[in-house]
Amino acid sequence: NKTLGIGLAGFGTVGTGVWETLERNFDLISNRTGVRTEMMRIAVRDINKSRPEGAPVEKFTTDWKDVVNDPTVDIVVELIGGTTTAFEIVEAALKARKPVVTGNKALLAERGKALFALSREMNTPIHFEAAVAGGIPIIKAVQDSFVGNRIETMAGIINGTSNYILERMTDAGLGYPEALKEAQELGYAEADPTLDVNGWDAAHKAILLATLSYGFSIDPAEVYVRGIEMVRGIDIEFAKRLGFVVKLLCVVREHENGTVEIRTQPSFIPQSHVLSSVNGVFNAVAINGDASGESLFYGRGAGKGPTASSVVADIVEAARGFAQEAGHRGFLPYQTEGQLVPIED
Ligand code: HSE
Repeated sequence: NKTLGIGLAGFGTVGTGVWETLERNFDLISNRTGVRTEMMRIAVRDINKSRPEGAPVEKFTTDWKDVVNDPTVDIVVELIGGTTTAFEIVEAALKARKPVVTGNKALLAERGKALFALSREMNTPIHFEAAVAGGIPIIKAVQDSFVGNRIETMAGIINGTSNYILERMTDAGLGYPEALKEAQELGYAEADPTLDVNGWDAAHKAILLATLSYGFSIDPAEVYVRGIEMVRGIDIEFAKRLGFVVKLLCVVREHENGTVEIRTQPSFIPQSHVLSSVNGVFNAVAINGDASGESLFYGRGAGKGPTASSVVADIVEAARGFAQEAGHRGFLPYQTEGQLVPIED
């Protein structure tokens, strides 16, 4: 088995989670998939920042070009966020024909058109499961499992930070700033939480889901977006009295005439509806395909472990493509021995 060299840009919450997961589950991943990963180079903004014990500081550099240009780096994982340096990193990696794994929804929703064109031109993939709904495998679901459907509607709660804040305001009566501070401390919010609370983080994710479903490039300027900044305790209180819950809801819908509507806004959800009980950092996406009917995807939408889980899955997928080992996307079964717990009467 060839070792896959990983170059990582960004060692924040998610980057740390990816490194920890690859370390902890190295044997399991390589037994299951035949992919042996090795972290080669890591770009960080500040070398002197405190890190978890055992962090591979000897791999650190403050210049992302060291990561992309390192000959032992086979794939590039971009986890710095933002749309400027991140763009340069992804562009340089694709030009070097190094597959990219990214969790950056803002980058792909705002500047994806150029990057996906380059990806096609260089015949080098961009994997982005971690960009939408954290640990929920929603990108692969839309790309693969629903490929035979016309997508009629999608409705989702896809910003964990907003959802967490709304819940804390509802159940604990917290004020908006205290609830936001908690979400930041838990590692749910983006480095700059503006996009979380003004609705754009969720809207970027909705744009990506709609792009995959309908196949055309969507201009973010044409999408309706309202965040939770304006929601006050009194709104939540009224919703409760009337039998509703306030959630930041994204809706993607294809109209009869083929036009596509994309909306992100705080919405009253009936307490009897399943989405009303999606609390805290959890996300949910309901997809309605013309053949499948409605399916609901639910899970942790933000945070270190869940997002790292999706990044690691994409690393394995990128490795498979890199090694030209088509045919198996997931586990290679029967690679290990195991024992069951004896059944007792
Ligand atoms: N800040 C995002 C959220 C992280 O709160 O959902 C996951 O994309």
